[in-house]
Amino acid sequence: MSAAAAELVTSSEPTIASIQAQINRTIDDLLATLPDPGRLSAAERRGIIARYTAVLEGNFIYWMTGAYIAAGSDEARAKIMDNLREEVRDCHPGMMRRFAIAAGAVPSSDDADAVYPNLMKVRQFIGRLSPVPIVVTMAFFEGFIQRFMPYLADLARRQGSSDMEYTDVHGVCDITHTEELFNALAAEMKLAPAQSDTDLFEGVGLLQALIQNIVRTN
Ligand SMILES: [Fe+2]
Repeated sequence: MSAAAAELVTSSEPTIASIQAQINRTIDDLLATLPDPGRLSAAERRGIIARYTAVLEGNFIYWMTGAYIAAGSDEARAKIMDNLREEVRDCHPGMMRRFAIAAGAVPSSDDADAVYPNLMKVRQFIGRLSPVPIVVTMAFFEGFIQRFMPYLADLARRQGSSDMEYTDVHGVCDITHTEELFNALAAEMKLAPAQSDTDLFEGVGLLQALIQNIVRTN
């Protein structure tokens, strides 16, 4: 490939900065739609915590494992493995469950049903193991979780809970995780640029719909 042709290919690819900007806009939009905790009933507050738990407790490590399997670069795999190691070593699913128990918000079958269709769509997307779109999706998810923690903690406090370990840990550690995932994304894009017809934000859109299921109270 000539230098000019190589430049053309490079310039037509989205940059990490533009992907990060679109992810941040999507997170901003989601946070702007969150219902005012002061106007929610106890049942509505419980429902948001329960649906969040129904999605996160059993799926986060699974989806991050999908990112690990899909990633081809040593750099991305190392960063994703660091994240997985922390999830397993510190038993984040257990931390999530304790948070839900303390807030009186253990997921019911109705909570699971409310998120089921869009949860399945995210699972199927992850199962395709498409490296760049998966890493974009997990960077979005980490970024959203980190910025959602103060809201989730507020709901739990209003439910009478004082167990904030889950929200404390994820409001801090996911800042680093998000940065690491963007570094992982850069490594993946360098190794195997996505095809021009690949929708880099497919998983972000699916996850956005799932998060809307979690926070919707009517
Ligand atoms: Fe976690």
